[in-house]
Amino acid sequence: MKIRKIGKPQRRDFIDLLLLGDEQIEMVERYLDDGEMFVLYEGNIPVSASIVIEIGTRTFEIKNIATWPQYQGKGYGTALLSYITEYYNPHADVLYVGTGNNQRTLNFYKHAGFSFSHIVKDFFLENYDHPIFEDGNQLIDMIYLKKVLTSSTE
Ligand SMILES: CC(C)(COP(=O)(O)OP(=O)(O)OC[C@H]1O[C@@H](n2cnc3c(N)ncnc32)[C@H](O)[C@@H]1OP(=O)(O)O)[C@@H](O)C(=O)NCCC(=O)NCCS
Repeated sequence: MKIRKIGKPQRRDFIDLLLLGDEQIEMVERYLDDGEMFVLYEGNIPVSASIVIEIGTRTFEIKNIATWPQYQGKGYGTALLSYITEYYNPHADVLYVGTGNNQRTLNFYKHAGFSFSHIVKDFFLENYDHPIFEDGNQLIDMIYLKKVLTSSTE
């Protein structure tokens, strides 16, 4: 497995993978050309992707992370998250990620050392043009988790 940074002109090649993590194209377009994009490859196959943007001084946010369904549950997402944590460690004090209220996704981040930060009420109602469902539940609020990085003095 290897992880590559993806330049802006190539990012649209991975749009279907990014739409798994954020299903409305207009929302993905908001950050597609920002920050850094990372893709994890197994051999020549891109299996997981993520985009991370800077949101403040030494503060970054994971805007999207997704693994193709047939590769989920095999550790690829965790490997990518761990790479991102190491990559930003020298540059950031804190890494945020926002997600819907989906227990499986929350567990994925909690296993990687993220903990609850705050909630943005009605985010999915106000920012998406259709109701978003995951595992049979409608997503309403955005739940932010954070990880304080080890180089931080916080
Ligand atoms: C969430 C996601 C990125 C995790 O990637 P992954 O490659 O499956 O992650 P890993 O195999 O390293 O970790 C699996 C852990 O994630 C959790 N998980 C979340 N969604 C899962 C899924 N669909 N399948 C399997 N595990 C999932 C489980 O808690 C699992 O923990 P466990 O191994 O202790 O049971 C991936 O499932 C995915 O792309 N889901 C759809 C898009 C999405 O919801 N992205 C997050 C948006 S904020």
